[in-house]
Amino acid sequence: MEIKNICCIGAGYVGGPTMAVIAFKCPHINVTVVDANSEKIKAWNGPVENLPIYEPGLAEVVQQVRGRNLFFSDDIAENIEKSEMIFMAVNTPTKTEGQGAGMAADLRYVEACANDIAKYSKSDKIVIEKSTLPVRTAEKIEEILKENSNGIHFEILSNPEFLAEGTAIEDLFKSDRVLIGGDKTKSGQKAVQTLVNIYSNWIPKEKILTNNVWSAELAKLASNAMLAQRISSINSLSALCEKTGADIDELSKAIGMDHRIGPHFLKASVGFGGSCFQKDILNLVYLCNHYGLNEVAEYWHQVIKINDYQKKRFTKKVIEHFNGNLKGKKISIIGWGFKEKTNDSRESASIYVAKWLCELGAKIEIFDFHMSEDKIKKDFITYDFITNNYPTILSPEKEKIFKSSHAIILMTGDPRITKFNFGSSCVFDGRNVLKLASLKSKNKIISLDKPND
Ligand code: NAI
Repeated sequence: MEIKNICCIGAGYVGGPTMAVIAFKCPHINVTVVDANSEKIKAWNGPVENLPIYEPGLAEVVQQVRGRNLFFSDDIAENIEKSEMIFMAVNTPTKTEGQGAGMAADLRYVEACANDIAKYSKSDKIVIEKSTLPVRTAEKIEEILKENSNGIHFEILSNPEFLAEGTAIEDLFKSDRVLIGGDKTKSGQKAVQTLVNIYSNWIPKEKILTNNVWSAELAKLASNAMLAQRISSINSLSALCEKTGADIDELSKAIGMDHRIGPHFLKASVGFGGSCFQKDILNLVYLCNHYGLNEVAEYWHQVIKINDYQKKRFTKKVIEHFNGNLKGKKISIIGWGFKEKTNDSRESASIYVAKWLCELGAKIEIFDFHMSEDKIKKDFITYDFITNNYPTILSPEKEKIFKSSHAIILMTGDPRITKFNFGSSCVFDGRNVLKLASLKSKNKIISLDKPND
Protein backbone atom coordinates (compact mmCIF):
# COMPACT_ATOMS: atom_id res chain seq x y z
CA MET A 1 0.00 0.00 0.00
CA GLU A 2 1.44 3.37 -0.95
CA ILE A 3 1.18 5.92 1.83
CA LYS A 4 0.27 9.39 0.62
CA ASN A 5 -1.72 10.59 3.62
CA ILE A 6 -1.20 9.94 7.30
CA CYS A 7 -3.74 10.92 9.94
CA CYS A 8 -2.81 11.04 13.61
CA ILE A 9 -5.63 11.16 16.16
CA GLY A 10 -4.46 13.09 19.24
CA ALA A 11 -2.55 16.40 19.04
CA GLY A 12 -0.87 16.12 22.44
CA TYR A 13 2.69 15.66 23.72
CA VAL A 14 3.16 12.59 21.54
CA GLY A 15 0.97 13.25 18.48
CA GLY A 16 2.26 16.81 17.89
CA PRO A 17 6.03 16.24 17.97
CA THR A 18 6.05 12.75 16.38
CA MET A 19 3.98 13.87 13.42
CA ALA A 20 5.97 17.09 13.02
CA VAL A 21 9.13 14.98 12.70
CA ILE A 22 7.55 12.45 10.31
CA ALA A 23 6.35 15.34 8.12
CA PHE A 24 9.80 16.95 8.29
CA LYS A 25 11.59 13.74 7.28
CA CYS A 26 9.01 12.55 4.73
CA PRO A 27 8.16 15.53 2.50
CA HIS A 28 6.39 13.16 0.08
CA ILE A 29 3.69 12.31 2.67
CA ASN A 30 0.91 14.62 3.86
CA VAL A 31 0.49 14.34 7.62
CA THR A 32 -2.60 15.66 9.37
CA VAL A 33 -2.97 15.69 13.14
CA VAL A 34 -6.58 15.76 14.32
CA ASP A 35 -8.00 16.28 17.78
CA ALA A 36 -11.42 16.45 19.39
CA ASN A 37 -10.28 19.60 21.20
CA SER A 38 -10.75 22.44 18.68
CA GLU A 39 -9.02 24.99 20.92
CA LYS A 40 -5.88 22.87 20.86
CA ILE A 41 -6.02 22.62 17.07
CA LYS A 42 -6.42 26.38 16.88
CA ALA A 43 -3.29 26.80 19.00
CA TRP A 44 -1.34 24.36 16.79
CA ASN A 45 -2.33 26.53 13.82
CA GLY A 46 -1.45 29.77 15.64
CA PRO A 47 1.88 31.55 16.28
CA VAL A 48 4.70 29.03 16.81
CA GLU A 49 5.73 30.80 20.04
CA ASN A 50 2.41 29.72 21.55
CA LEU A 51 2.03 26.12 20.45
CA PRO A 52 0.02 24.12 22.99
CA ILE A 53 3.10 22.27 24.12
CA TYR A 54 6.60 23.48 24.83
CA GLU A 55 9.46 21.32 23.57
CA PRO A 56 12.92 22.59 22.66
CA GLY A 57 13.24 22.59 18.84
CA LEU A 58 9.55 21.90 18.17
CA ALA A 59 8.60 25.42 17.06
CA GLU A 60 11.43 25.43 14.50
CA VAL A 61 10.32 22.11 12.99
CA VAL A 62 6.65 23.14 12.91
CA GLN A 63 7.59 26.47 11.32
CA GLN A 64 9.28 24.64 8.44
CA VAL A 65 6.64 22.02 7.67
CA ARG A 66 3.29 23.43 8.74
CA GLY A 67 1.24 24.20 5.64
CA ARG A 68 3.74 22.28 3.46
CA ASN A 69 2.90 18.69 4.42
CA LEU A 70 1.93 19.02 8.08
CA PHE A 71 -1.60 20.08 8.93
CA PHE A 72 -3.70 20.37 12.09
CA SER A 73 -7.45 19.91 11.84
CA ASP A 74 -10.54 19.16 13.89
CA ASP A 75 -12.21 17.39 10.96
CA ILE A 76 -11.65 13.86 12.18
CA ALA A 77 -14.02 12.15 9.72
CA GLU A 78 -12.54 13.64 6.56
CA ASN A 79 -8.96 12.91 7.59
CA ILE A 80 -9.66 9.32 8.58
CA GLU A 81 -11.38 8.76 5.27
CA LYS A 82 -8.60 10.11 3.10
CA SER A 83 -5.63 8.52 4.93
CA GLU A 84 -4.11 5.12 4.27
CA MET A 85 -2.35 5.07 7.65
CA ILE A 86 -3.81 6.20 10.97
CA PHE A 87 -1.91 6.67 14.22
CA MET A 88 -3.79 6.63 17.51
CA ALA A 89 -1.95 8.93 19.94
CA VAL A 90 -4.72 9.66 22.41
CA ASN A 91 -4.35 9.74 26.18
CA THR A 92 -4.60 6.52 28.20
CA PRO A 93 -4.86 7.72 31.83
CA THR A 94 -5.43 5.53 34.87
CA LYS A 95 -9.07 4.53 35.26
CA THR A 96 -10.88 6.49 37.94
CA GLU A 97 -14.01 4.36 38.15
CA GLY A 98 -15.30 0.87 37.42
CA GLN A 99 -13.31 -2.35 37.38
CA GLY A 100 -9.60 -1.70 37.85
CA ALA A 101 -10.12 1.90 39.07
CA GLY A 102 -6.86 3.45 40.29
CA MET A 103 -4.77 0.84 38.46
CA ALA A 104 -5.86 -0.18 34.97
CA ALA A 105 -5.53 2.02 31.89
CA ASP A 106 -8.67 3.85 30.84
CA LEU A 107 -9.12 2.80 27.23
CA ARG A 108 -12.20 4.84 26.48
CA TYR A 109 -10.33 7.35 24.27
CA VAL A 110 -8.64 4.58 22.30
CA GLU A 111 -11.95 2.80 21.88
CA ALA A 112 -13.56 6.06 20.72
CA CYS A 113 -10.77 6.36 18.11
CA ALA A 114 -11.34 2.81 16.93
CA ASN A 115 -15.08 3.52 16.63
CA ASP A 116 -14.38 6.65 14.57
CA ILE A 117 -11.97 4.76 12.32
CA ALA A 118 -14.54 2.03 11.73
CA LYS A 119 -17.27 4.59 11.11
CA TYR A 120 -15.47 6.89 8.69
CA SER A 121 -13.25 4.47 6.76
CA LYS A 122 -14.21 3.64 3.18
CA SER A 123 -11.00 1.82 2.19
CA ASP A 124 -8.36 -0.47 3.75
CA LYS A 125 -6.19 1.13 6.46
CA ILE A 126 -3.14 0.47 8.57
CA VAL A 127 -4.07 1.43 12.14
CA ILE A 128 -1.18 2.10 14.50
CA GLU A 129 -1.22 2.07 18.30
CA LYS A 130 1.07 4.95 19.26
CA SER A 131 -0.53 5.41 22.69
CA THR A 132 0.86 3.26 25.51
CA LEU A 133 -1.54 0.37 25.92
CA PRO A 134 -1.86 -2.71 28.06
CA VAL A 135 -0.65 -5.86 26.38
CA ARG A 136 -3.32 -7.47 24.15
CA THR A 137 -5.23 -4.21 23.54
CA ALA A 138 -4.84 -4.76 19.80
CA GLU A 139 -7.34 -7.62 20.15
CA LYS A 140 -9.97 -5.23 21.52
CA ILE A 141 -9.29 -2.67 18.79
CA GLU A 142 -9.59 -5.35 16.13
CA GLU A 143 -12.93 -6.42 17.60
CA ILE A 144 -14.29 -2.86 17.36
CA LEU A 145 -12.98 -2.36 13.85
CA LYS A 146 -14.34 -5.69 12.61
CA GLU A 147 -17.74 -5.17 14.18
CA ASN A 148 -18.36 -1.80 12.62
CA SER A 149 -16.65 -2.00 9.24
CA ASN A 150 -18.14 -3.17 5.96
CA GLY A 151 -15.62 -5.57 4.54
CA ILE A 152 -12.76 -3.09 4.90
CA HIS A 153 -9.42 -4.63 5.90
CA PHE A 154 -7.68 -3.08 8.89
CA GLU A 155 -4.16 -4.10 9.82
CA ILE A 156 -3.25 -3.19 13.40
CA LEU A 157 0.34 -2.41 14.36
CA SER A 158 1.84 -1.48 17.69
CA ASN A 159 4.44 1.29 17.49
CA PRO A 160 4.93 2.56 21.06
CA GLU A 161 6.61 5.91 21.54
CA PHE A 162 9.77 6.24 23.64
CA LEU A 163 10.33 10.01 23.48
CA ALA A 164 10.98 11.85 26.72
CA GLU A 165 9.37 15.22 27.26
CA GLY A 166 11.98 17.98 27.29
CA THR A 167 14.08 16.17 24.66
CA ALA A 168 11.26 14.93 22.41
CA ILE A 169 12.55 16.38 19.15
CA GLU A 170 16.10 15.21 19.78
CA ASP A 171 14.77 11.75 20.72
CA LEU A 172 12.62 11.55 17.59
CA PHE A 173 15.46 12.56 15.30
CA LYS A 174 17.87 10.08 16.88
CA SER A 175 15.76 7.32 18.41
CA ASP A 176 17.62 4.61 20.34
CA ARG A 177 15.20 2.21 18.66
CA VAL A 178 11.86 2.14 16.92
CA LEU A 179 9.61 -0.75 17.79
CA ILE A 180 7.03 -2.07 15.36
CA GLY A 181 4.82 -4.97 16.31
CA GLY A 182 2.58 -6.67 13.78
CA ASP A 183 0.82 -9.92 12.95
CA LYS A 184 2.90 -12.74 11.52
CA THR A 185 0.42 -13.07 8.64
CA LYS A 186 1.40 -11.98 5.12
CA SER A 187 -0.74 -8.83 5.32
CA GLY A 188 0.55 -8.13 8.83
CA GLN A 189 4.16 -8.31 7.69
CA LYS A 190 3.39 -6.13 4.67
CA ALA A 191 1.95 -3.47 6.95
CA VAL A 192 5.01 -3.72 9.23
CA GLN A 193 7.24 -3.18 6.19
CA THR A 194 5.21 -0.14 5.13
CA LEU A 195 5.85 1.50 8.49
CA VAL A 196 9.51 0.41 8.47
CA ASN A 197 9.83 2.22 5.12
CA ILE A 198 8.55 5.44 6.65
CA TYR A 199 10.99 5.37 9.59
CA SER A 200 13.81 4.31 7.25
CA ASN A 201 13.75 7.84 5.85
CA TRP A 202 15.89 8.84 8.84
CA ILE A 203 16.35 5.97 11.32
CA PRO A 204 19.12 3.42 10.54
CA LYS A 205 17.67 -0.01 9.69
CA GLU A 206 19.42 -1.77 12.60
CA LYS A 207 17.54 0.46 15.05
CA ILE A 208 14.12 -0.53 13.73
CA LEU A 209 12.99 -3.64 15.58
CA THR A 210 10.07 -5.65 14.28
CA ASN A 211 8.29 -7.84 16.82
CA ASN A 212 5.02 -9.49 17.50
CA VAL A 213 2.31 -7.07 18.67
CA TRP A 214 2.28 -8.30 22.26
CA SER A 215 6.04 -7.86 22.72
CA ALA A 216 5.82 -4.32 21.34
CA GLU A 217 2.94 -3.41 23.67
CA LEU A 218 4.62 -4.92 26.74
CA ALA A 219 8.07 -3.51 25.92
CA LYS A 220 6.80 0.03 26.42
CA LEU A 221 5.30 -0.67 29.86
CA ALA A 222 8.40 -2.62 30.87
CA SER A 223 10.78 0.15 29.73
CA ASN A 224 8.96 2.78 31.76
CA ALA A 225 8.82 0.48 34.77
CA MET A 226 12.59 -0.15 34.61
CA LEU A 227 13.37 3.57 34.26
CA ALA A 228 11.12 4.49 37.19
CA GLN A 229 12.58 1.64 39.23
CA ARG A 230 16.05 3.18 38.94
CA ILE A 231 14.71 6.50 40.22
CA SER A 232 12.98 4.83 43.16
CA SER A 233 16.12 2.82 43.88
CA ILE A 234 18.36 5.87 44.12
CA ASN A 235 15.70 7.83 46.01
CA SER A 236 15.35 5.06 48.58
CA LEU A 237 19.12 5.23 49.08
CA SER A 238 18.98 9.02 49.60
CA ALA A 239 16.92 8.32 52.74
CA LEU A 240 19.64 5.97 53.98
CA CYS A 241 22.29 8.59 53.19
CA GLU A 242 20.42 11.04 55.43
CA LYS A 243 20.80 8.62 58.33
CA THR A 244 24.36 7.50 57.69
CA GLY A 245 26.17 10.64 56.49
CA ALA A 246 26.82 9.22 53.03
CA ASP A 247 26.40 11.64 50.12
CA ILE A 248 23.86 10.54 47.49
CA ASP A 249 25.67 12.25 44.62
CA GLU A 250 28.91 10.52 45.51
CA LEU A 251 26.99 7.28 45.72
CA SER A 252 25.33 7.83 42.31
CA LYS A 253 28.69 8.52 40.72
CA ALA A 254 30.30 5.47 42.24
CA ILE A 255 27.40 3.20 41.29
CA GLY A 256 26.96 4.65 37.79
CA MET A 257 30.60 4.22 36.81
CA ASP A 258 30.08 0.48 36.85
CA HIS A 259 29.49 -0.15 33.15
CA ARG A 260 27.01 -2.90 33.99
CA ILE A 261 24.83 -0.28 35.69
CA GLY A 262 25.55 2.97 33.80
CA PRO A 263 25.01 6.57 34.92
CA HIS A 264 21.50 7.38 33.66
CA PHE A 265 18.46 7.87 35.89
CA LEU A 266 20.57 7.74 39.03
CA LYS A 267 20.03 11.33 40.15
CA ALA A 268 18.19 11.58 43.44
CA SER A 269 15.11 13.79 43.38
CA VAL A 270 11.91 14.49 45.22
CA GLY A 271 10.31 11.78 43.10
CA PHE A 272 9.30 11.20 39.52
CA GLY A 273 6.18 12.76 38.00
CA GLY A 274 4.77 13.02 34.52
CA SER A 275 1.84 11.44 32.82
CA CYS A 276 3.53 8.12 32.11
CA PHE A 277 5.63 6.43 34.79
CA GLN A 278 3.00 6.13 37.49
CA LYS A 279 0.13 5.19 35.20
CA ASP A 280 2.21 2.70 33.22
CA ILE A 281 3.51 0.95 36.33
CA LEU A 282 0.02 0.82 37.85
CA ASN A 283 -1.14 -0.68 34.60
CA LEU A 284 1.67 -3.25 34.74
CA VAL A 285 0.73 -4.08 38.34
CA TYR A 286 -2.89 -4.50 37.29
CA LEU A 287 -1.89 -6.80 34.43
CA CYS A 288 0.29 -8.95 36.70
CA ASN A 289 -2.56 -9.30 39.21
CA HIS A 290 -4.94 -10.09 36.38
CA TYR A 291 -2.72 -13.01 35.37
CA GLY A 292 -2.43 -14.15 39.01
CA LEU A 293 1.19 -13.02 39.34
CA ASN A 294 0.67 -11.34 42.71
CA GLU A 295 4.34 -11.37 43.77
CA VAL A 296 5.40 -9.80 40.50
CA ALA A 297 2.66 -7.19 40.89
CA GLU A 298 3.83 -6.35 44.42
CA TYR A 299 7.45 -6.07 43.27
CA TRP A 300 6.58 -3.35 40.73
CA HIS A 301 4.06 -1.66 43.01
CA GLN A 302 6.90 -0.96 45.41
CA VAL A 303 8.40 1.44 42.83
CA ILE A 304 5.31 3.67 43.20
CA LYS A 305 5.25 3.32 46.97
CA ILE A 306 8.85 4.53 47.27
CA ASN A 307 8.02 7.45 44.98
CA ASP A 308 5.13 8.50 47.24
CA TYR A 309 7.33 8.02 50.29
CA GLN A 310 10.03 10.27 48.82
CA LYS A 311 7.55 13.11 48.15
CA LYS A 312 6.28 12.84 51.74
CA ARG A 313 9.76 12.55 53.24
CA PHE A 314 10.84 15.73 51.45
CA THR A 315 7.72 17.69 52.40
CA LYS A 316 8.15 16.61 56.02
CA LYS A 317 11.59 18.25 56.01
CA VAL A 318 9.91 21.58 55.19
CA ILE A 319 7.24 21.07 57.84
CA GLU A 320 9.79 20.11 60.49
CA HIS A 321 11.89 23.17 59.65
CA PHE A 322 8.95 25.32 60.78
CA ASN A 323 8.20 23.00 63.72
CA GLY A 324 4.88 22.21 62.10
CA ASN A 325 3.72 25.81 62.19
CA LEU A 326 3.33 26.94 58.61
CA LYS A 327 0.46 29.37 59.08
CA GLY A 328 1.24 32.53 57.09
CA LYS A 329 4.76 31.42 56.12
CA LYS A 330 5.66 32.56 52.61
CA ILE A 331 7.21 29.68 50.68
CA SER A 332 8.35 29.96 47.06
CA ILE A 333 8.25 26.86 44.91
CA ILE A 334 10.48 27.06 41.85
CA GLY A 335 9.47 24.57 39.18
CA TRP A 336 5.90 23.38 38.59
CA GLY A 337 6.29 21.17 35.51
CA PHE A 338 7.22 17.58 36.29
CA LYS A 339 10.73 18.30 35.04
CA GLU A 340 12.66 21.07 33.32
CA LYS A 341 12.11 22.01 29.66
CA THR A 342 8.45 21.04 29.58
CA ASN A 343 5.11 22.72 30.20
CA ASP A 344 3.57 19.44 31.34
CA SER A 345 2.69 19.26 35.02
CA ARG A 346 0.72 16.01 35.07
CA GLU A 347 1.55 14.16 38.31
CA SER A 348 4.32 16.66 39.05
CA ALA A 349 5.84 16.23 42.52
CA SER A 350 5.51 20.04 42.98
CA ILE A 351 1.75 19.71 42.97
CA TYR A 352 1.78 17.27 45.88
CA VAL A 353 4.30 19.28 47.89
CA ALA A 354 2.40 22.56 47.31
CA LYS A 355 -0.97 21.04 48.10
CA TRP A 356 0.20 19.63 51.42
CA LEU A 357 1.83 22.90 52.48
CA CYS A 358 -1.24 24.94 51.47
CA GLU A 359 -3.39 22.66 53.60
CA LEU A 360 -1.15 23.50 56.56
CA GLY A 361 -1.72 27.23 55.98
CA ALA A 362 1.49 28.19 54.15
CA LYS A 363 1.32 31.05 51.62
CA ILE A 364 2.74 29.44 48.52
CA GLU A 365 4.02 31.26 45.45
CA ILE A 366 4.95 29.42 42.29
CA PHE A 367 7.51 30.18 39.62
CA ASP A 368 8.03 28.16 36.46
CA PHE A 369 9.89 28.92 33.23
CA HIS A 370 7.44 27.26 30.82
CA MET A 371 4.07 26.77 32.49
CA SER A 372 1.30 29.27 31.68
CA GLU A 373 -0.68 30.80 34.53
CA ASP A 374 -3.82 29.20 33.08
CA LYS A 375 -2.39 25.70 33.17
CA ILE A 376 -1.18 26.08 36.76
CA LYS A 377 -4.60 27.39 37.83
CA LYS A 378 -6.27 24.38 36.21
CA ASP A 379 -4.04 22.15 38.34
CA PHE A 380 -5.43 23.73 41.53
CA ILE A 381 -8.86 22.52 40.43
CA THR A 382 -7.82 19.13 39.03
CA TYR A 383 -5.82 18.26 42.12
CA ASP A 384 -8.42 19.62 44.62
CA PHE A 385 -6.43 22.40 46.30
CA ILE A 386 -8.33 24.00 49.16
CA THR A 387 -10.10 26.94 47.58
CA ASN A 388 -9.42 29.50 50.33
CA ASN A 389 -5.64 29.20 50.08
CA TYR A 390 -4.67 28.94 46.41
CA PRO A 391 -0.98 29.66 45.69
CA THR A 392 -0.06 32.83 43.82
CA ILE A 393 1.68 32.51 40.47
CA LEU A 394 4.71 34.60 39.53
CA SER A 395 5.33 35.76 35.99
CA PRO A 396 8.29 33.98 34.33
CA GLU A 397 9.42 37.26 32.73
CA LYS A 398 9.71 39.48 35.78
CA GLU A 399 10.32 37.71 39.04
CA LYS A 400 13.75 36.35 39.79
CA ILE A 401 13.97 37.57 43.34
CA PHE A 402 12.85 35.57 46.30
CA LYS A 403 14.44 37.53 49.10
CA SER A 404 11.37 37.90 51.25
CA SER A 405 10.40 34.21 51.32
CA HIS A 406 10.63 32.25 54.55
CA ALA A 407 11.78 29.29 52.48
CA ILE A 408 12.49 28.33 48.86
CA ILE A 409 11.70 24.92 47.47
CA LEU A 410 13.62 23.95 44.35
CA MET A 411 11.69 21.52 42.20
CA THR A 412 13.54 21.95 38.91
CA GLY A 413 17.06 21.18 37.76
CA ASP A 414 17.04 24.11 35.32
CA PRO A 415 20.55 25.65 35.62
CA ARG A 416 19.08 29.18 35.33
CA ILE A 417 17.96 28.99 38.96
CA THR A 418 21.54 29.42 40.10
CA LYS A 419 21.29 33.07 38.93
CA PHE A 420 18.32 33.77 41.18
CA ASN A 421 18.58 35.88 44.27
CA PHE A 422 17.45 33.82 47.24
CA GLY A 423 18.45 36.44 49.82
CA SER A 424 19.21 34.56 52.99
CA SER A 425 16.19 32.20 52.79
CA CYS A 426 16.53 28.56 53.64
CA VAL A 427 16.55 26.49 50.44
CA PHE A 428 15.05 22.99 50.21
CA ASP A 429 16.73 21.38 47.27
CA GLY A 430 14.35 18.81 45.79
CA ARG A 431 16.71 18.04 42.91
CA ASN A 432 20.02 18.19 44.72
CA VAL A 433 21.21 20.82 42.24
CA LEU A 434 22.70 23.47 44.50
CA LYS A 435 26.23 22.44 45.02
CA LEU A 436 27.36 26.00 44.37
CA ALA A 437 29.79 27.34 46.92
CA SER A 438 28.52 30.91 46.54
CA LEU A 439 25.00 29.92 47.45
CA LYS A 440 26.12 27.57 50.14
CA SER A 441 27.87 30.37 51.95
CA LYS A 442 24.73 32.56 52.03
CA ASN A 443 21.91 30.08 52.28
CA LYS A 444 21.12 27.17 54.45
CA ILE A 445 20.52 24.32 51.99
CA ILE A 446 18.51 21.30 53.00
CA SER A 447 18.94 18.50 50.50
CA LEU A 448 17.50 15.05 50.06
CA ASP A 449 20.38 13.26 51.73
CA LYS A 450 21.00 15.53 54.70
CA PRO A 451 19.13 15.89 57.96
CA ASN A 452 17.57 19.31 58.69
CA ASP A 453 20.21 20.24 61.24
P1 NAI B 1 -2.12 14.19 25.67
O1 NAI B 1 -3.15 14.21 26.72
O2 NAI B 1 -1.10 15.27 25.63
O3 NAI B 1 -2.80 14.17 24.23
C1 NAI B 1 -3.86 13.33 23.88
C2 NAI B 1 -4.80 14.10 22.93
O4 NAI B 1 -5.77 13.19 22.43
C3 NAI B 1 -5.57 15.22 23.61
O5 NAI B 1 -5.29 16.44 22.94
C4 NAI B 1 -7.05 14.81 23.47
O6 NAI B 1 -7.90 15.93 23.25
C5 NAI B 1 -7.01 13.91 22.26
N1 NAI B 1 -8.09 12.94 22.19
C6 NAI B 1 -8.51 12.08 23.14
N2 NAI B 1 -9.50 11.30 22.67
C7 NAI B 1 -9.72 11.67 21.39
C8 NAI B 1 -10.61 11.21 20.38
N3 NAI B 1 -11.42 10.19 20.58
N4 NAI B 1 -10.57 11.84 19.18
C9 NAI B 1 -9.72 12.85 18.95
N5 NAI B 1 -8.84 13.32 19.87
C10 NAI B 1 -8.85 12.73 21.07
O7 NAI B 1 -1.43 12.76 25.77
P2 NAI B 1 0.09 12.40 25.44
O8 NAI B 1 0.97 12.80 26.55
O9 NAI B 1 0.40 12.85 24.05
O10 NAI B 1 0.03 10.81 25.47
C11 NAI B 1 -0.61 10.07 24.45
C12 NAI B 1 -0.24 8.61 24.62
O11 NAI B 1 1.17 8.45 24.42
C13 NAI B 1 -0.53 8.05 26.01
O12 NAI B 1 -0.92 6.71 25.86
C14 NAI B 1 0.83 8.11 26.70
O13 NAI B 1 0.97 7.13 27.69
C15 NAI B 1 1.77 7.83 25.54
N6 NAI B 1 3.12 8.39 25.69
C16 NAI B 1 3.29 9.64 26.25
C17 NAI B 1 4.56 10.16 26.36
C18 NAI B 1 4.77 11.51 26.96
O14 NAI B 1 5.92 11.83 27.24
N7 NAI B 1 3.74 12.31 27.17
C19 NAI B 1 5.75 9.42 25.90
C20 NAI B 1 5.45 8.16 25.30
C21 NAI B 1 4.17 7.67 25.23
